Amino acid sequence: MSDRVFFFDTTLRDGEQSPGATMNFQEKLRLARQLEVLGVDIIEAGFPASSPGDFEAVAAIAENAGNDVQIAGLARCVERDIDLCWQAISKAKNPRIHTFIATSPLHMEYKLRKTPDEVFATAVECVKRCASYTPNVEFSCEDFSRSDPDFVCRVVEGAIKSGATVINLPDTVGYAQPEEFAAMVKYIIANTPNSDKAIFSVHCHDDLGLGVANTLAALRIGARQAEVALNGIGERAGNAALEEVAMALHVRKDYYGLEDNIQTEQLYPSCRLLSIIIGQPIPNNKAITGANAFAHESGIHQDGMIKHRETYEIMTPQSVGRTSTNLVIGKHSGRNAVRNKFESLGYNLDDEQLNQIFEAVKQLADRKKHLHDEDLMALVQQEIYRIPDRLRLRHVSVQSSDGGGVPPTAAVLMDVDGVERSGAGFGVGPIDALFNVISDIVGRQPELEQYAINAVTGGMDALGEVTVRLAEKGCSVVGRGNHPDIFVASARAFVDALNNLAKREEQGRRVHSHDN
Ligand code: KIV
Ligand code: ZN
Repeated sequence: MSDRVFFFDTTLRDGEQSPGATMNFQEKLRLARQLEVLGVDIIEAGFPASSPGDFEAVAAIAENAGNDVQIAGLARCVERDIDLCWQAISKAKNPRIHTFIATSPLHMEYKLRKTPDEVFATAVECVKRCASYTPNVEFSCEDFSRSDPDFVCRVVEGAIKSGATVINLPDTVGYAQPEEFAAMVKYIIANTPNSDKAIFSVHCHDDLGLGVANTLAALRIGARQAEVALNGIGERAGNAALEEVAMALHVRKDYYGLEDNIQTEQLYPSCRLLSIIIGQPIPNNKAITGANAFAHESGIHQDGMIKHRETYEIMTPQSVGRTSTNLVIGKHSGRNAVRNKFESLGYNLDDEQLNQIFEAVKQLADRKKHLHDEDLMALVQQEIYRIPDRLRLRHVSVQSSDGGGVPPTAAVLMDVDGVERSGAGFGVGPIDALFNVISDIVGRQPELEQYAINAVTGGMDALGEVTVRLAEKGCSVVGRGNHPDIFVASARAFVDALNNLAKREEQGRRVHSHDN
């Protein structure tokens, strides 16, 4: 058996299904590019039949993908899904159709309303349809961990005979325990007569916090593809975190003895990029990428570290792309330095984009002496990778108050569909005043579900990054904004969320007309 493990990243598909992780078209393209730089073998770009927006994003990712990465699209075992999936991915240099059907008694009886024989027949027919388009077909037994292993062997044998080259065994509901899961995967490999003709894969959800443990346990006994997502995002509690599986394999190579193509120095930049895009900060205590992952607080630990680093550190921050020497760009940096810096961060900007970002860098550098990589990534995300917005913030002025005299006040100047509008008003606090004024100007009254502020880097002049979640008529969206002035960052985040609400409505209208 080969020692090579394939990393299949599902951040753009299963990850994007997680609450608040919606990405726009440009953001998906940007993230796909970064996943290539990170060295993942397969990018699951989306579920083309789920919406026209998903179809377009998958098609664009497929068209722009390089030679070394495979682009997968998800399809239920349904003819229309498979046909649309192929249309979306066919321009990729290495396309893959990933089709699935549930094999557990619960799912077959209550969700699919099919007998096991009908599920078997559907799986075989659909894999054949996929194989008529491409030899690169992955087949998944949804809810594998609650399925009858002998039935799974039968379905998997049929799928391989029909053309599947990768068999994925998911723990869809995050129910399995590591040893039990590994034993089940081993049983399927051992008892499926043609199992040597396929690569076995696992896809583990994190409902009991075991997604990474289950994935590693299966890799240890013979699975050779790991389906994972950056920051562990995904349905409900998420998927196994790519960065954790990758670093376990690298740090404990002595134990696993497996090879892969992940460029570990790109782990932190990739996770950070996703966090900026979806507006979900990385928790401080998160393994590998959290702010505290390499911080040593107690005296005993610090003393040990000074005497010999390996007393308390099993990997270096540099090995996962966390460096402390990234203070390069400042007020006096020239265009070439800025271009080079962005290239080193994985952004290939055209001349127009470079002009735009250069101006933004200068403005930020006027207020903040040293720009860290995180500042620049936040800036490029805000300035370049966004679709044109209906609402644009121009100026914000805020007056806070300790309760005596004039209440907290805000004044805002903005463009609404290209028309200049302004307003002023009060609030319980200055942020409340700001949000009230903007709501009045645009004529919407969404509910503020969540407000979070985070300093992008350390230091008193750190860039403030604000994330808001707004809800209106059952639709919930995230917006984010950053600026050294937290009121401006807050106003930007609020306006961003309002733009996202408008885009959601627009998308809903398009899906509706598509369905008709
Ligand atoms: O969790 C799951 O079973 C899935 C499949 C579609 C692979 O996401
Ligand atoms: Zn899943």
